[in-house]
This record gives sequence, C-alpha cells and structure tokens, in this order.
Amino acid sequence: MAYNLLEGKRGIIFGALDPNSIAWKTAERVHEEGGRFVLTNAPIAMRMGQIDALAKITGSEIIPADATKIEDLEHLVSQAVSILGGPLDFVLHSIGMSVNVRKGKHYTEQNYDWTHKGWDVSALSFHKTMQVLYKQDAMNEWGSIVALSYMAAQRVFPDYNDMADNKAYLESIARSFGYFFGRDKKVRVNTISQSPTPTTAGQGVKGFDGFMAYADKMSPLGNATALDCANYTISLFSDLTKRVTLQNLYNDGGFSNMGVSDAVMDYFVNDKA
Ligand SMILES: NC(=O)c1ccc[n+]([C@@H]2O[C@H](COP(=O)([O-])OP(=O)(O)OC[C@H]3O[C@@H](n4cnc5c(N)ncnc54)[C@H](O)[C@@H]3O)[C@@H](O)[C@H]2O)c1
Repeated sequence: MAYNLLEGKRGIIFGALDPNSIAWKTAERVHEEGGRFVLTNAPIAMRMGQIDALAKITGSEIIPADATKIEDLEHLVSQAVSILGGPLDFVLHSIGMSVNVRKGKHYTEQNYDWTHKGWDVSALSFHKTMQVLYKQDAMNEWGSIVALSYMAAQRVFPDYNDMADNKAYLESIARSFGYFFGRDKKVRVNTISQSPTPTTAGQGVKGFDGFMAYADKMSPLGNATALDCANYTISLFSDLTKRVTLQNLYNDGGFSNMGVSDAVMDYFVNDKA
C-alpha cells in the first residue's frame, strides 16, 4: 500500500545489489511513494549485480561510485542534483563489507589491512558521503539521511567480527555529523539497527542461519524483513519524522530489549541444549 509520502522528493540510494538487498526493497518502496532518485553502487558491484533491472523498474539513472573515494562521491552528488533537478531530500547509505569476515579471519587474528579496508567501506564511507553532501550544500532543509546498522554495535555477537566495531563507528558518525547537519542545514541523520536479513552481505557472516533463527525466536514480533526496513526508512524520509535525529533506531521485532523468550527457554528446559 502506498501513501504518497515522498511525492516531490529527490534522493540517492546506495547499495542495491540484487532483489534481496535492503536498498533494493527501499528503492522499490520509495518509488511507490512518489520519490525520485539516483541509484549508486561500487563499479565492481555493477558487473556482479542486477542494478540495471531496478533502474528500469523505478525509472532511475545509475551513477557508479566507490563510496570510499571522495572524487567518486563528489561526482555522484553533483550529478544526482543535476539529473534530479535540484538539491536532495533523502539519502540511504546501505553499504557493508568486511574482508576479515569474507576471508574467514577470526576476530583475534585480524589482518589489519583488511580491517582498515572494511572500516573504510562500512563506516568511514558514511562520513565521506555526508561531508561531500554538506560541502556541496546538496541537501534541502528538512532532508533525511539514513544508514543501516546492526545490534552488534552494542552487544557481543562473536562471528560478526570486525563489523561490530564498524557499526559502532557508523552509529557514532550519525550522531556527530548529525549535529552539524541539524544545526547548519536542518537535516536529520539516523541509523536503523535492523534484524538479521538474508542478503548477500548478511549471509557472508559465519553461522548466519543460526543467528537468524535465534533472533527470530527471541523477538516477540519476529525478525524484521528487508521490506519492513524499507518501510521504516520511508517513514524517516517522510515529513512525518521531521525532528527525529541523532538516533539509532531498532527495527528488530523487539530483540534489542529482550533478556530471554519462552521459545528460547523451552529449548533449555526440554534439555535440547
Ligand atoms: N543483512 C543483514 O543481516 C543486515 C542486518 C543489519 C544491518 N545490515 C546492513 O544493511 C546494509 C545493506 O546490506 P544488505 O544486507 O542489504 O546486503 P547487500 O550485500 O545486498 O548490500 C551491501 C552493499 O554494499 C555495497 N558496497 C560494498 N562495497 C562498496 C563500496 N566500496 N562502495 C559502494 N558500495 C559498496 C555492495 O555492492 C552491496 O550493494 C549494510 O550496511 C549492512 O551491514 C544488514
């Protein structure tokens, strides 16, 4: 169901790789709500992914950009403003990658070049994106910037590896840059902390299926899907949430406030452990 919440709004959506991507679902929902946008992803993802199909469905242009490269981001932002016909109202940062996770390097055995690369892609890219938007004065007043995070920023999930640290850094950037964006440009900046979701990035985490099943059993409302995340993001891009900023917002079926659930207790009481 569409509510026309984003009629007349323009933006950039990072990170749609394939139809499972949270950014893909978000792009579809933004389109349904009347928003127009430019799609972007790393040049290598253009070759592996299916972004062309999404561009077709949503009538969007694609501008490749490696989100760790300032020149790419400068080009992306200025082009997006020119293609869409004015400054932007929303930006979704939906980017994550850890080389240590990908190559199975344990948290206690990190290769620091890989750690640095994963941090640059997953966390610092958010600062770089906002700095470029800020310097180019590319956001409209009452615009909204959202990045996606995960609970491992607050709690220990051993196999999430260095991505836990990257997410903690990402959430901190949202607060720190969000202050300046709010004060100077009336733009809000938030992170959404999403349930485990079966995407390419998600499934790269060791033991992901167990991770997902456990979270689902712990959450009174069950895991939030990619579509749930897209819908929450739409609300944050809309004018209905104008003074929500500097927040890390949980979209996780209640998981983050749980101690234990009946379903998980049953597992131990019945001696299945
Ligand atoms: N899937 C989950 O369980 C889950 C849970 C919480 C948060 N998140 C977060 O959601 C976001 C989106 O991930 P997803 O789960 O949809 O997976 P995904 O694999 O579909 O998306 C990750 C995207 O990051 C892009 N990317 C990687 N390096 C890049 C670079 N240098 N420049 C630009 N883009 C780059 C990839 O091409 C890909 O499109 C990530 O921040 C992820 O950490 C995911």
